Amino acid sequence: MIRTLTILATLLVAVAASAVELSDSQRAAIEERIAPIGDVCLQGDTSCGGPAVAVSSGPRSGQEVFDAACMACHSTGAGGAPIKGDVDAWAARIAKGIDTLHQHGIEGIPGTGMMAKGGCVNCSDEEVIAAVDYMVEESQ
Ligand code: HEC
Repeated sequence: MIRTLTILATLLVAVAASAVELSDSQRAAIEERIAPIGDVCLQGDTSCGGPAVAVSSGPRSGQEVFDAACMACHSTGAGGAPIKGDVDAWAARIAKGIDTLHQHGIEGIPGTGMMAKGGCVNCSDEEVIAAVDYMVEESQ
């Protein structure tokens, strides 16, 4: 009886030992299966395939900002917005001076549809100024 138990115990130990002895490829396969779904890739860390969000390559051009953030109103005249290219509509505004137009582009005009930065929350002051210059250039 004791002998049988000893054999049994030895067998169990052998089985248990073999269960934890994994080959490298088995280990790699398991690690892959239990790996987290996503990795955090910090900006600037190139070891994980580059940054997930493209780092801005500098300020956008006036036209790019216009197309993305101003066109909705300034190509349609929505809310009385002066349309880009409408020389008459822009003449009186241009007469106020470019600094005023830049300021109104950045701060908006209270009580009108012209919100601060035309509502473009991710536009820098610099980009809004470029968009104003672009509209003015195209409208005289
Ligand atoms: C939701 C509509 C809307 C969007 C979007 C919008 N505008 Fe305007 N904008 C207006 C309206 C309306 C006016 C005319 C306001 C008035 O004088 O009554 C105006 C006027 C202006 C003027 C003339 C200001 C002046 O002093 O006469 C500038 C410059 C201007 N917008 C720049 C921009 C720029 C740059 C963007 C994009 C970044 C933009 N706008 C986006 C509605 C908009």
